[in-house]
Amino acid sequence: MRSILVANPKGGSGKTTLATHLAGYLASLGRQVVLADLDRQQSAAGWLERRPPQLPTIHGHHANKQALRPDWMVIDSPAGLHGDKLTAAVKLAELVIVPVQPSAFDMLATGDFLRVLRKEKAVRKERSQVAMVGMRVDPRTRSTAELAEFLLAAEFPVLTYLRDAQLYVQCAHEGLSLFDLPPSRAARDVEQWQPLLDWISAH
Ligand SMILES: Nc1ncnc2c1ncn2[C@@H]1O[C@H](COP(=O)(O)OP(=O)(O)OP(=O)(O)O)[C@@H](O)[C@H]1O
Ligand SMILES: [Mg+2]
Repeated sequence: MRSILVANPKGGSGKTTLATHLAGYLASLGRQVVLADLDRQQSAAGWLERRPPQLPTIHGHHANKQALRPDWMVIDSPAGLHGDKLTAAVKLAELVIVPVQPSAFDMLATGDFLRVLRKEKAVRKERSQVAMVGMRVDPRTRSTAELAEFLLAAEFPVLTYLRDAQLYVQCAHEGLSLFDLPPSRAARDVEQWQPLLDWISAH
């Protein structure tokens, strides 16, 4: 089983959004997927409960993993994750994805987090690969240019920028991912996801 951790201690950075759509993507490929929710608010677990049963199955983390033998575990983590809990979560995951929004507060908090991540043993030893994703991006804004500058200066790769779109809000409500929607509704957003999906396939 391979594991992907979605983490950024900054609240509202887009962790649950990334984690749920990633789980939806892997399930749409026919993989056995567990979506583990480390957040006491249980947003990802709630999304899973709202997920229509006819869609590709995603298992909650109470699933019997011995019997299931999942291919992938996607781990959604809480705001404020730090210390031993962060170390344990990073150690679990071959891939760590950090969503960042174009705001000064988000970039400052994320800068601190990236410094902590770099010191994690699993990252130093390259057992865990870290990459970043720009989240809720409007290419016309100055803050997006500032985000691009910030991300390019960080030592981890920037995989893609996802636009700010109501589709993400609707999917959150309905237990859906982009990969459950007809291409006519999701093509523009799926295209933005492609470099992230390629990065996952390459590992
Ligand atoms: N690309 C996007 N376009 C529009 N809305 C988005 C996008 N990404 C996230 N959102 C919305 O922003 C809000 C915060 O996103 P999300 O819950 O994924 O962040 P989080 O990092 O998990 O937050 P928390 O730290 O509270 O767990 C949600 O209402 C979500 O629907
Ligand atoms: Mg969340």
